Amino acid sequence: KRIKLVEVRSELGAGTRGASLGIDALRIACLNKGSDYFRRYNSVAVPDLNHVLFEKNHFPFAKHIDAIYTVQKGVASAVEQTLRFGEFPLVLSGDHSSANATIAGIKAAYPQKTLGVIWIDAHADIHSPYTTPSGNVHGMPLAAALGEDNLPCQRQALDAETEFFWRRMQNLAEPGPKLLPEHLVYVAVRDTEEEEETLIERLGIKWIKLPEIQAKGTRQLAREIYEHLRYCDLVYISFDVDSLDSSFSKGTGTPVEEGLFLSEGENLCQDLLENERVVCFEMGEINPTLDNENTMAKNAFNILQKATAAIERRLRLEEVTGRS
Ligand code: ARG
Ligand code: MN
Ligand code: MN
Ligand code: MN
Repeated sequence: KRIKLVEVRSELGAGTRGASLGIDALRIACLNKGSDYFRRYNSVAVPDLNHVLFEKNHFPFAKHIDAIYTVQKGVASAVEQTLRFGEFPLVLSGDHSSANATIAGIKAAYPQKTLGVIWIDAHADIHSPYTTPSGNVHGMPLAAALGEDNLPCQRQALDAETEFFWRRMQNLAEPGPKLLPEHLVYVAVRDTEEEEETLIERLGIKWIKLPEIQAKGTRQLAREIYEHLRYCDLVYISFDVDSLDSSFSKGTGTPVEEGLFLSEGENLCQDLLENERVVCFEMGEINPTLDNENTMAKNAFNILQKATAAIERRLRLEEVTGRS
């Protein structure tokens, strides 16, 4: 079994321009480090629709949702195909809206299996177009995957067009929710809106905050997370680089203070990826246009290398023990 890179150069879901360049910033970081990382793996690039940024947006409460939906169909099918082919999809994305499609792709490949999601991010990304303060779809992937609208917290009414695409997004790849709230774990989330907090509380989603990470350490934390996800057959880990403390780099659209140290990000990914139920890893939201000397991509590339090494150790182990 091998890793395959799924490259998603999208930035339509972010409020700041430039996240579509994140993958290429990682490539530059790789070259400057003299690594052969990007030559070691097969990759597939999902078509982007970034040219629509030069056109008018018709959806104030879910900007470019029509084009994002099209990109998501591409992501979902790339992830599904990769899994069906027996490979491990490592998704490198621009803005985080892609995560809804990654989840849908995994569910399409394994319709009978229960999926757990570990969400490492400064943000909860659980808004719907009914509650979003910004209209940025990268704040919505988990509401889409959960099939949530959060109507008790509604701030705005939607036009029929937005509603149409939002329903399609919630039903991407196959109809219905892809994820149950008890199978979602938040790690390092620290910048949320009230509507999100109310929903997280109502759904009883497990939320591991920074002090707990620092007190317990990443090993112990990984054990507890997998204990919480013990009924899940498969696990997807989503790493938004803004989970890292903003003092390390401003090279992301929505940097937030008091986040993970680089070593914590590294150790967390390593410890979590050692679990044999993990079928997919995603890293996104690197924006080199906001950066100085490509710092975020350099840091993120170090984490990516460590994460990849952990995945490969595990895949090799499965080969010798004859499991898949
Ligand atoms: N909650 C804010 C919003 O909905 C920020 C979301 C940031 N998401 C991200 N993937 N960086 O606009
Ligand atoms: Mn995010
Ligand atoms: Mn974020
Ligand atoms: Mn905020």
